[in-house]
Amino acid sequence: MNKPMLEVIDHKTVNRIPIWFMRQAGRYLPEFMEIRRENKDFIQLCLTPQLVKEITLQPIKRFDLDAAILFSDILIVPLIMGYKVSFSDKGPEVGKQDKEYVEQYCGDVSAKIAEAIRMVKVEMEHHHKNTAFIGFAGSPWTVACYMVEGKLSRDCQVIKAMMYSDGKHLDALVESITEHTIEYLKVQIDAGVDIVKLFDSWSGVLTKEYFYRFVIKPTKNIVDSIRRYKSDIKIIGFPRGAGFLYQDYVNNTGVDVVALDQYTPIDWAKKHLSDVVLQGNMDNILLAASKGGAVKAAEEIIEIMDDQGFIFNLGHGIIPSTPPDNVEAVIKAIRNR
Ligand code: CP3
Repeated sequence: MNKPMLEVIDHKTVNRIPIWFMRQAGRYLPEFMEIRRENKDFIQLCLTPQLVKEITLQPIKRFDLDAAILFSDILIVPLIMGYKVSFSDKGPEVGKQDKEYVEQYCGDVSAKIAEAIRMVKVEMEHHHKNTAFIGFAGSPWTVACYMVEGKLSRDCQVIKAMMYSDGKHLDALVESITEHTIEYLKVQIDAGVDIVKLFDSWSGVLTKEYFYRFVIKPTKNIVDSIRRYKSDIKIIGFPRGAGFLYQDYVNNTGVDVVALDQYTPIDWAKKHLSDVVLQGNMDNILLAASKGGAVKAAEEIIEIMDDQGFIFNLGHGIIPSTPPDNVEAVIKAIRNR
C-alpha cells in the first residue's frame, strides 16, 4: 500500500504532492446534482450508504486526487445527540432535542455512516489503492455554534452572548459534543477511514482566552482520545480564521496536519508552524473566478512549499459556481511541474 498523502503525513519523502479539495464532492459537480435532484432530503441522502458511496467516489473518479473525503456533514453529531437537523436553501437548521422523533426518522445514524464507510473502503481497495480516505467531524465549538444559533450565523452573536453570560452551561454543552464526537470518530475509524479531520469553521470568532477554552481544550481532548484508541490514525485540524492563534493551536492540540485558511500567508506558516505538516490554502473564490489565476496561485504555493512535506488544498470549500474544468486545470498544473 502506497498512499502519498499518508507518507507525507509520516514525514516520508515522496515525489508527488498530495492534492485534495475541501468540498470536493458537492454542488459544482453535475453528477452530484443529478443525484441531488432525486434526493431532496439532505439528511436522508447522508444516511443512504449506497448514495454516500457514489458521491464520495465521484471526485476521485473524475480527477487525479490523493484523498477521498466521506460525503456527510458536521451536523451528523447533533443528530446523533437527538437534535432535529434539516437543510433548506438557506442552509442548515438545528432544532430542539427530540430523541424519539430523530430515532424514528433516522434510525441508527452511526450504523448507517459506518456501513457507508465500509462500502467506500471496499471500492477504494479495488480501484483507488493509492488514495487515502478521510473521515471527519466538526469541532465541538463549531457544532455548538450551529446548535445554539440554530442556523448559519456569520458572527456567532447568540453563542458568544451565552459564552459571556453563562459560560458554565456552554462548557457543559461543548463537553457533551466532545464526548459524542470522540465516539462518532471511533465508529468511523473502525469502519476504515485512514485520516480524520476536525472542521472548526467558526474558531476565528474567539479571543485568545476563549480560543483556549473552547477550541484548543476540546480539540486536544479529541486528539488524545483518538490516539489512545488507535495510535497510527492521522489527524488534520482546521481552525479556520485562527490568525495569530494558529501557532497556539499547533503547539497545544497535537494534530498531525494543520489546514490553513487562505488568509494565513503560506510563507509565514512555513516559518512559524514547522512542527506539523501543512495543508492549504488557495482562495476557494479564486478557483471559481479564474482558471488562469487559480493555476498561477497554485504554482506560487507549490513554489514556496516544494521542499517540504505539504498537502495542496484550498483555504475553504469549493463553492457551487466553480467550473470543474478549473479544478482539473489546477491539478494538471501541479502534476506537470
Ligand atoms: O468536503 C466534502 O466534499 C465532504 C462533505 C462535506 C459536506 N459538509 C457536505 C455538504 C463536509 C466535509 C462538510 C463540512 C461542513 N458542513 C462544514 C465545515 C466546513 C466548512 O465549509 O466550513 C460546515 C460548517 C457544515 C455545515 C453546512 N452544511 C452548511 C453551512 C451548509 C450549507 C451551506 C453550503 O455550503 O452548502 C451545509 C450543506 C452541505 N454540506 C452541502 C454539502 C454537499 C450542500 C447541500 C446541498 O446539496 O444542498
